[in-house]
Amino acid sequence: ISEYKLCVFGSGGVGKSCLTMQFVQGIFMPKYDPTIEDVYKKTVEIDGKQYSLEILDTAGTEEFSAMRDLYVKNGHGFVLVYSITSQATFNDLDEFYDRIIRIKDIEIHGQPALVLVGNKSDLEDERVVGRQSGQELARRWKCTFLETSAKNLLNVNEIFCDLVRQIDRA
Ligand code: GTP
Ligand code: MG
Repeated sequence: ISEYKLCVFGSGGVGKSCLTMQFVQGIFMPKYDPTIEDVYKKTVEIDGKQYSLEILDTAGTEEFSAMRDLYVKNGHGFVLVYSITSQATFNDLDEFYDRIIRIKDIEIHGQPALVLVGNKSDLEDERVVGRQSGQELARRWKCTFLETSAKNLLNVNEIFCDLVRQIDRA
């Protein structure tokens, strides 16, 4: 059984906890309860193989800290989340990405296992970040891009399955 540590990053309120909870427990929380830091564990079968996943759900509002750098250092795969209803949350991801690249020594070890996620795709009326912006960023980062809805359970499991497959390929 492979044990993988996955980290979910992104600004406050984008839906990191809801995506994680949907994947781990199959529930959606409509009420916003800002995260301090939560770790979830789930055993899953993907492509006929067993995986033990440890998912770190981080606080969006917190500054980067030594603690966080340690999570990046120990993490096998990363989910970078923005909300399609907020341009600022999209712009914020550069800083998370740069941090991951720097800490993981990507120049030596190659691409990180990474999925770029545009969440809240059910709120089409409030969309301000076009699908194309996400696609372009993913092309630049050479990573997977998914638009998701934690509310409607759209593409949620796909995030984590894709990430696990990327880690296996590395
Ligand atoms: P922090 O823990 O503060 O960093 O926020 P977070 O990124 O964990 O956001 P959280 O998952 O707590 O969601 C914030 C709010 O957005 C909550 O009210 C959720 O119900 C709502 N939300 C999350 N995902 C979706 C979604 O896909 N669609 C809609 N409509 N609302 C969502
Ligand atoms: Mg949270």
